[in-house]
Amino acid sequence: MSLTVYRKAHFNAAHRLYKEGWSDEKNLEVFGKCSNPKYHGHNYELEVGVSGEIDPETGFLIDLKKLKEIIKEEVEDPFDHKNLNEEVPEFQNLNPTVENIAIVIWNKLRERLGPKYDISVKLYETPRNFVVYNG
Ligand code: NI
Repeated sequence: MSLTVYRKAHFNAAHRLYKEGWSDEKNLEVFGKCSNPKYHGHNYELEVGVSGEIDPETGFLIDLKKLKEIIKEEVEDPFDHKNLNEEVPEFQNLNPTVENIAIVIWNKLRERLGPKYDISVKLYETPRNFVVYNG
């Protein structure tokens, strides 16, 4: 049997994609508008999937109240309305692409949820651009 529980979440954040040492022109060529030196924002939509066994006592795979709280503490509180480059330590030396943000979120959730669950992170940077990371 395979069953996955999902929880959606949302955060707004600013970022700039760039590579240190490249000129603004080269960064613009590679990263487009996302390389704007003055930053810009995205409305990120997150879907977290948790797979595992159902607890026969409760009928829950995971208590969604707990999952909600973990996502709030690990993602929404530290990322929402933040400048990812300047205010979130994970991106001090890591380009905050949607790929890297999804991996950072997955790693944080893995720490909190422990090994008994499989975790899937789907992150939308725009309504049409998204990534899925399963570890
Ligand atoms: Ni961007």
